[in-house]
Amino acid sequence: MSFKKTILVTGGAGFIGCHLVKLLVNKYPDYHIINLDLLTYAGNLENLKEVEDKDNYTFVKGDIVDSAFINKLFETHDFDGVIHLAAESHVDRSITDPMSFIKTNIVGTVNLLNAARHNWGDFKGKRFYHVSTDEVYGSLGETGFFVETTPYDPRSPYSASKASSDHLVRAYHHTYGLPIVISNCSNNYGPNQFPEKLIPLFINNIKHRKTLPVYGDGKYTRDWLWVLDHASAIDVIFHNGADGETYNIGGNNEWKNIDLIHVLCDVMDDLLGRAKGSSRELITFVKDRPGHDRRYAIDATKLKEELGWEPTIQSEDGMRKTAKWYLDNESWLENVTSGAYQQYYEKQYSTKVS
Ligand code: NAD
Ligand code: DAU
Repeated sequence: MSFKKTILVTGGAGFIGCHLVKLLVNKYPDYHIINLDLLTYAGNLENLKEVEDKDNYTFVKGDIVDSAFINKLFETHDFDGVIHLAAESHVDRSITDPMSFIKTNIVGTVNLLNAARHNWGDFKGKRFYHVSTDEVYGSLGETGFFVETTPYDPRSPYSASKASSDHLVRAYHHTYGLPIVISNCSNNYGPNQFPEKLIPLFINNIKHRKTLPVYGDGKYTRDWLWVLDHASAIDVIFHNGADGETYNIGGNNEWKNIDLIHVLCDVMDDLLGRAKGSSRELITFVKDRPGHDRRYAIDATKLKEELGWEPTIQSEDGMRKTAKWYLDNESWLENVTSGAYQQYYEKQYSTKVS
């Protein structure tokens, strides 16, 4: 079968990646979507069941840190574009194990950039899209927003590794002329997020009547974006964003952690048929995260004005949908927390890798 475009998505078995892969495979039947993922603890092919048998979808298991493998993959497939999401993504893990973030997020990105640079001829019709985070901009006070020109000031090993990869992507654009685009996005939430991040962790804990560990005073602020809105923004930027540009993606949806947690507790009480207020009793204030950024807030005016994208869902609705998804998908939650899916898919993917 011949396709109009062949697109490499890295990290497509993870939280954001799986929603993006499903969007692309379904919306563009004339594109061949190749999903490269190492299937770490955060990657799960169960997230992609809906598309796994589609003719325009291929899964490849592999490590972006393995430069020989990455180069071979680019020699085998003539990719028109790369949408790069594969990363170590959890701030707390970066505090205990910075090196795996340096390897995957920095070295892995450079391996992809090198493979694109060496295999893409004169770069005509090519595009390297790097998916990044608002955490590269550092921490805001009570007011103000991150814009695309906000100076970088990363403060955790995770955000420093993402900032470094952003700089390298821009350096390959300026030095070698590689066609690139970057987006920096706020906190995502929704189905399929590994239950180590705030919202799915707390949903899981509430379900099992376990304590809810709120870091510090709980007044840290995040701008929450519905994950499917992020996937649609990536689609728009990949197709219409200007070469060499950066776009901020945000949810227009700022919450102090403790206020968001209260809403989540009340939604869970309602969905579980428990007495109102019973989940709030699980809240426990614990020692703060070291270097905890106080506030993130995105100004996504550029994306709205230049490319016409806006978020569609606000958090209270989104939180109910998210909580319901986790309650309706108990086996997913059990499989990811026990690692059971990994053993199952070890056998499955070995017959599908190409
Ligand atoms: P995730 O942790 O859920 O998924 C990461 C995926 O990358 C997993 O499927 C994992 O198996 C894969 N992966 C990890 N190391 C790999 C390697 N060495 N080789 C190949 N694959 C590997 O992450 P996510 O939350 O979906 O984030 C995706 C991207 O979006 C990341 O680059 C992250 O920095 C960025 N981002 C995330 C958020 C958020 O709120 N989650 C916000 C802004 C930006
Ligand atoms: O802003 C974008 C970033 O958002 C992404 O780049 C990261 O990949 C993603 O993990 C996320 O980072 P955060 O550190 O903001 O997300 P997390 O869910 O870990 O934490 C959200 C807030 O909740 C933060 O202020 C820390 C707090 N928190 C988190 C956990 C896991 C708690 O109070 N208790 C917890 O147990």
